[in-house]
Amino acid sequence: MEPLRPILFHPHIPSIEYIEQTLLPDVYEVRTASTVQDLADAIKRLGIRGAPALGCAGACGVALSALLSRDDSLPEFLSGVRSDVNLLRNTRPTAVNLFYGIDQVLSAIESSKSIEEAKSHAVNAAHEVIEADRRTCHAIGKTGLSIVPEGARILTHCNAGALACAEWGTALGVIRSAHESGRNISVYSCETRPLLQGARLTTWELLRDGIDVTLITDSMAAVLMRKGKIDLVVVGADRIVSDAVFNKIGTYMHAVCAKAHNIPFYIAAPLSTFDEESREDLVIVEERNPEEVRRVRNCITGPSTVPVWNPAFDATPSDLISGIITEYGIFSLPRDLETICQLKMGNKVV
Ligand code: MRU
Repeated sequence: MEPLRPILFHPHIPSIEYIEQTLLPDVYEVRTASTVQDLADAIKRLGIRGAPALGCAGACGVALSALLSRDDSLPEFLSGVRSDVNLLRNTRPTAVNLFYGIDQVLSAIESSKSIEEAKSHAVNAAHEVIEADRRTCHAIGKTGLSIVPEGARILTHCNAGALACAEWGTALGVIRSAHESGRNISVYSCETRPLLQGARLTTWELLRDGIDVTLITDSMAAVLMRKGKIDLVVVGADRIVSDAVFNKIGTYMHAVCAKAHNIPFYIAAPLSTFDEESREDLVIVEERNPEEVRRVRNCITGPSTVPVWNPAFDATPSDLISGIITEYGIFSLPRDLETICQLKMGNKVV
């Protein structure tokens, strides 16, 4: 099976090609963003989603802005790019990878001495963000092998798969690597209301790869744990701060249940998801359209006037987390804060 690559950058057209994730699993459609506005719209409606994929999209978006510019003075060129950067920054607030990807390309542009140089540096930097994410996800998968026993029954939430990254996935990267290494594992995928990333995307990806997967509603996880049918929980992350991990709404509930049943609860995420100098109370949690809760796609599930609370993410405090699986090893916060800081500064400490 061809590896899933949900986002590709074509500098010669120029455009960004992506798998439209709102249509899956019924329709597999590859769409093209030819402008930064197209891309921003795709991110807002979750056509492109998942923290590392947002980082790739942000990086490609800044490079696209540079390539589309017709300005011939460097200050005007930079001001046009910065205005597109603002557009991209204002799409989704929580996943820190979006800002990481944007900043990688923006700094390549800002350190250039001419428009031509800036365009070429931007293209290279965007490609590098995508390539680095591919390598990183495979490395996370390898790291995670040490915590997946033979025969493990693994619970996951939302979609931290290839669709959420440049390839392979983070939580699903660990699952894929375990499966690839011959371990006989099975997965319970929580449906992940309101937008059903677990039901629509995770099951689709795992079925495609021939990995044993069973779909459950979010409220079924606790009883499965109580019955002794879950050995391990692995999920992704949108932002990791010094005292908590932000991930899809519902993650905290699984962490509390896992703790109550003595089940290991792991996060799988790249270093680019760490915002280690921040704290839980400083993070903006995206609140989405109430209609996402009043409906499931076109089916009405609540009165049109009922008030709704619809946060996209929650925070799981560090003490509920057994470890954070990264490309550099398995860490624990706040214990490994200094190591994470050193690694992010480029110092190889492990
Ligand atoms: O709202 P989404 O679908 O972008 O949320 C995605 C998640 O919460 C994922 O678990 C997270 O981004 C990790 S993806 C490797």
